[in-house]
Amino acid sequence: MNERKLHPSQNVLSGEIEVPGDKSISHRAVMIGSLAQGTTHVSHFLDGEDCMRTVKAFRSMGVSIEHKETSLIIEGKGIAALKEPKEPIYFGNSGTTARLMLGLLAGFPFFTTVYGDPSLSNRPMDRVVSPLKQMDAIIDGRGDGNYLPLSIRGKMLNGINYALPVKSAQVKSAVLLAGLLANEETKVTEQTITRNHTENMLKAFGADITTDGLDTKITNKKSLKAIDVYIPGDISSAAFFLVAAAIVPGSNVKLKNVGLNQTRTGIIDVLNTMGANMQVHNQQVSSGELLGDITIGHTALHSTTIEGEVIPRLIDEIPIIALLATQVEGTTIIRNAAELRVKETDRIAAVVDVLSTLGANLEATTDGIIIYGKTTLTGGEVSSYNDHRIAMMAAIASLVAEDDVTIDDVSSIAISYPTFFDDLQTILN
Ligand code: S3P
Repeated sequence: MNERKLHPSQNVLSGEIEVPGDKSISHRAVMIGSLAQGTTHVSHFLDGEDCMRTVKAFRSMGVSIEHKETSLIIEGKGIAALKEPKEPIYFGNSGTTARLMLGLLAGFPFFTTVYGDPSLSNRPMDRVVSPLKQMDAIIDGRGDGNYLPLSIRGKMLNGINYALPVKSAQVKSAVLLAGLLANEETKVTEQTITRNHTENMLKAFGADITTDGLDTKITNKKSLKAIDVYIPGDISSAAFFLVAAAIVPGSNVKLKNVGLNQTRTGIIDVLNTMGANMQVHNQQVSSGELLGDITIGHTALHSTTIEGEVIPRLIDEIPIIALLATQVEGTTIIRNAAELRVKETDRIAAVVDVLSTLGANLEATTDGIIIYGKTTLTGGEVSSYNDHRIAMMAAIASLVAEDDVTIDDVSSIAISYPTFFDDLQTILN
């Protein structure tokens, strides 16, 4: 346990930081780089615990991956060179590693067993196992293949025409990655656009993949070609400082090189709707992904309703948006977000518990949260639920709380943002 007591702060947030690389894109760079032919150099890689699970998984299948700070050198020799791992592969807490790797392992020509930590072992895998079985995959495990540990007897897969029943980029990506290894075309159709980093990364490596509205088609193109990848800053990490600057009076910060892929910028739309004092500058494209700098200052904001198509575009930012809503006038309603109940923890229950302990006025619904603002936060002792985004939400809450905020365990922050407290210190003046 790594308890942290945060004292009330009189400081403002000012200056600039560059948040670590995007978690989703970092995973995909490792996976696709490991399948390609040639040397892939990855820079600004997120070397948090989750992405390192993906690195270790490929090392255990014989891929040489050199890791130094935020750089990776991946020596890809193509899919045929991958080897059957000698040990079960441990995915830790990482849902993205688990879901995406299941798609790949189903099509690799060998046997694997995969397992995770207690949180990951309780998260549903049927959402990927079911379409993979329709592609002829052989997967079995606990709960009829719904929970880790799972065993996979990899083989040549059939293509599939699949309408996604859940709004999940992880499920879409698992089917597309399996489609990359299948013997005929695979098509996935989404209900709503979700993050498209798998599609962008596959295109950048030369895969045969096309997207038309909600449809994406992929065919097996025997060989992908290594490239150099720069990973933009993770907007899901930047979100903590966007909200901090918006709610701490007198603040003004610049966040550099943040990923601005439209499938991820729901938080920017919400802040704009609430009346934020925010600008985006220096936009550019790198390895198929848009990035730029964001400046944001404190100003009085108002409540809003967050629902429908924007939800997948800000799904990981809902805990910090809930904190934001406690600090604005009016009632903020978040709905259509039942997916939060199957994240690293039940994030609807966790957010309501932590923020009410700190004196906020909010309630859980079946698929969201209603927050009655504006409330003064008092401080108190809270649980992180072993969830990185809940721990960081509580840490940012301490910046506007009247008393100490004690978080029972902040170690989970290393999952997605190992330098979170250092970066916070840099801009707390
Ligand atoms: C992710 C997709 C989202 C997100 C997760 C990362 C990805 O999950 O919550 O943190 O990298 O594809 P779902 O696809 O399950 O919504």
